[in-house]
Formats: sequence, structure tokens, C-alpha cells
Amino acid sequence: MVIDFHAHILPRCDHGCHSSAMAQEQLRLIKDAGTDAVVATPHFYPNEDSIASFLAGREGALDAMREKLSLQELPIVYPAAEVLVCEGLHKMKDLESLAVSGTNVILLEMPFRRWSEALINTVLGVKARGLVPVLAHINRYDLENVEPLLDKGVLAQVNAEAFAPFKNFKRYVELMREGKVVALGSDLHEAKRADYKRFLHMKKKLGAVADAVFAKTEALLKNATPLYQPNGDKAKQTQSV
Ligand SMILES: [Fe+2]
Repeated sequence: MVIDFHAHILPRCDHGCHSSAMAQEQLRLIKDAGTDAVVATPHFYPNEDSIASFLAGREGALDAMREKLSLQELPIVYPAAEVLVCEGLHKMKDLESLAVSGTNVILLEMPFRRWSEALINTVLGVKARGLVPVLAHINRYDLENVEPLLDKGVLAQVNAEAFAPFKNFKRYVELMREGKVVALGSDLHEAKRADYKRFLHMKKKLGAVADAVFAKTEALLKNATPLYQPNGDKAKQTQSV
């Protein structure tokens, strides 16, 4: 099963998707590329928003998609979030509700400034809380900063952009083989076909390694509740997350 673990496809939840029509276009693009499932990861900024208001906005977007989109013809969508790590995030009430729906897997985005010890301890605190943190697009950071966290059991996701050009390509492949990189993502914003081509390029470039990563992602999402599951048990599908 091909899974895109990182995409901004929920209408008006962030700058990645402006309308239900755009969400339909994005999901069509994802489907046409042969991707079976996509984790919808609108940005959540704990320094700007509350979890309650974020979830209310996301539920509105999911309702609009249920109402307006032909979901049975589109890839499986798992509601989630891309959560910016701020110091103390691990103590935030209801943090679990930002995990991929139905799971304890949470996508964390590190800031682009220097990572303080407190910030690193925050990520470890999220893990200690019982969540499974996956660091978003580790290709955007210095691997010297990232790898100590991976050595402590934090998991990682790589964006398709990492494979063109191929800086650190070999190291990413090693991290995939070591089971530390467990997800691949398009980080799609808007419905640009050229952007999704990068995901296809990465898949092709990685070959069997990509298949092994997708299998790991699928295992992580074993209990995830989709927005709509083709031919699935409707009772299990997420209604209100
Ligand atoms: Fe993103």
C-alpha cells in the first residue's frame, strides 16, 4: 500500500488547501499517481492556536469533504496534524487528539532555529507520554541534530524533495533500512501536478526500499480511522475526531 504521510489537503485548515474543490483536485492528483492513502496534516501552531479551535476547524473541513467530495473514488484520507514543537508541548492537555485519527502516532515539525536542550527534551517528553512521535521532513534539518533523537527511538519522515537533488540520499536510505525513517511524504500544498511528480520520482528512485518504508507506515496506521473507507465498515470510520 502506497501511503503519503504528509500532505496539506484539508480545505481552509491552512495555506495548503483553499477550498473543497482544491481538495478534490489534490486527492485526484494523489490517486492518479497510484497513492492508496494519504495522511492529512494541516499545520497546528501551539503558540498561535488552541487544540479545541484547531479541531473544530478541522472537523468543519472534514464535514465539507464528506458532503462535497466523491470520497469513494479518492484515496483513503487519515485526519491528522503537523504539530510545531514548542518547549513544553509534551505537557499540553489533549495532545493525543492531534495524533493520526485512531492512533497514537503524531507528526512533529521542528523549528528551523537551533534546537535547545529543552526542545529536544520536549520531543522525548512526547514519546514518554505514550505517543509515537514522527519528525516531519528531516531532510530540511542538519542530520547531526536529527540523528541523536532517532537514536533515542524517535521516528522520522522524509519529504520527496529530498531526492532531487540527491544530497544525503545514501544516508536517508540507510536510515530507512535501519527502521528509523518510517514514512515518506509529498508535503503537498495546493494542486500542482509538478510537485506530486517529486513523490513519484522518490518512489521510483527508492524502489524496494520505498516498499519497505510503506509497509512500516501501514503497520503504524493499522488502527487509524479514515475519513471514508472504500468498502469499509462505516461504523469504524471517523465521525468526530
Ligand atoms: Fe508540511
